[in-house]
Amino acid sequence: MGALHTLQELDALQDAMNKALDAIRAEIDVHDLPDLSNYATEPHPLDDAHFICPPRLYEARKLALATIGQIRNLIQRPYERVVEQSTAVYETACLDILVKTGILDKLADEEHANGMHALELERAFDIDSVKLMTVLRYLAAQGWLHEPDERVFALTRLALELRQGNNGRKWIMTPGKPTVATSLLDQLTHPDREWRYSRKPDETAFQLGNNTKLTLFEHLKRNPDELTQWASSVQSLGDAYHSAIINDYPWRELQSRSFVDCGGGQGNLSISLAELLPEAQFIVQDLEEVVPIAKANIARRLTDPAKRSRITVEPHNFFEVQPRGGDRIYMLRYILHDWPDHACIKILKNIAQAAGPKAKIIIVEVISVPCTTSAYAQYRGHPVTLDDLRGAKRHQAITPPAYIPENFGACAKMSLALGVHMMGVFNALERSMTEWFDLITRAGLQISRVQGLRGMVSIIECEVARQ
Ligand SMILES: C[S@@+](CC[C@H](N)C(=O)[O-])C[C@H]1O[C@@H](n2cnc3c(N)ncnc32)[C@H](O)[C@@H]1O
Repeated sequence: MGALHTLQELDALQDAMNKALDAIRAEIDVHDLPDLSNYATEPHPLDDAHFICPPRLYEARKLALATIGQIRNLIQRPYERVVEQSTAVYETACLDILVKTGILDKLADEEHANGMHALELERAFDIDSVKLMTVLRYLAAQGWLHEPDERVFALTRLALELRQGNNGRKWIMTPGKPTVATSLLDQLTHPDREWRYSRKPDETAFQLGNNTKLTLFEHLKRNPDELTQWASSVQSLGDAYHSAIINDYPWRELQSRSFVDCGGGQGNLSISLAELLPEAQFIVQDLEEVVPIAKANIARRLTDPAKRSRITVEPHNFFEVQPRGGDRIYMLRYILHDWPDHACIKILKNIAQAAGPKAKIIIVEVISVPCTTSAYAQYRGHPVTLDDLRGAKRHQAITPPAYIPENFGACAKMSLALGVHMMGVFNALERSMTEWFDLITRAGLQISRVQGLRGMVSIIECEVARQ
């Protein structure tokens, strides 16, 4: 029975993998895209945050990645996985070495497209080539580099994301995660029971690891350089799903409305929408110390004065009464996942109290899905397959086939990791649809639409609840 079961699982996963890869190949052909290669010296169009991924291709990649994760779990020797995982912290450290020493930028120079010998790197950076070899070969095995000749290392397409100016570089340059990670255990097993069950943003691994009483936002206020770096990493997360957010939600229905970008950070969502909706007006609200950063970013990114004049930035604390009332569009992107339930309800209630009957509250966040896996395709009603998406213009998520978790497992790793980060930094979380429904209802709002996007996040559109 055991052997038969395993064989069926392998068969099912192989079938899913074949279908996913066939669909990827067909979509690359249909859309006239270049071949995929790890050795490319330029990014593939699929790597660009502004690329609008055809729905079938998007879902096929998702299925392929989920299947790779399941196959790996199935065939890898568990002990080796344990060692690999417990030393994964070294991958982060070695990537830091690659980026922060300047080796990555050197290898990114066109003249080094074919790679550099470890001895050449030693001469350029005065770092022991024997030690460098250890670091670089480890990174090569993870796909960040390749070794065209023994001891010669070149960037892969994956590593191009870490070049100056790219979103991956902005994200990786923001420090602090290892410190939070080492204190997570202490957060969850704290000797003080109140701490263990705390939902306060000043009783987390962040305070334990950094030996501070300040919340992250208070800490950033006192450290402007860190604030600027942190703001740019948040911006990178927003940019990463730019095309999904802009293309998969019917923003044009809100053509000439007035938008309030609550906790709008650098104002990037408003900037993108100002480009899309020429008649709409935008107010970006954030903490006082973020206002100058937002203004500078808007001035830099929107050179057209007409567009720029449609975005204003103002200080506003979203725990206080919302001064901008009426039938506006209130947007909250990556806000509520920073806060525990009681704080989210306060934020949403402040908006609900100001909002008119035709106002919309647009929440852009992860909707966390359980990792339940079944030997049968998990569907209620008719399953959606990759075949159904042939030639589709509108995105629709496929049904996970047998043995693929409902949240597409390995594919959900990034959002689930961010959930752990939110817990460690804010005592907050990524929420499931049931949790969102509960929170939104308790704030006096009702959900009017839920829109899945071609990305990690979804849009939950709400309005003020009718009595
Ligand atoms: C994760 S960032 C999201 C930024 C932006 N919405 C985006 O998607 O790029 C959270 C934002 O909330 C802001 N924030 C934190 N506490 C706030 C408060 N009490 N009132 C207003 N904004 C706040 C932060 O300064 C930060 O810009």
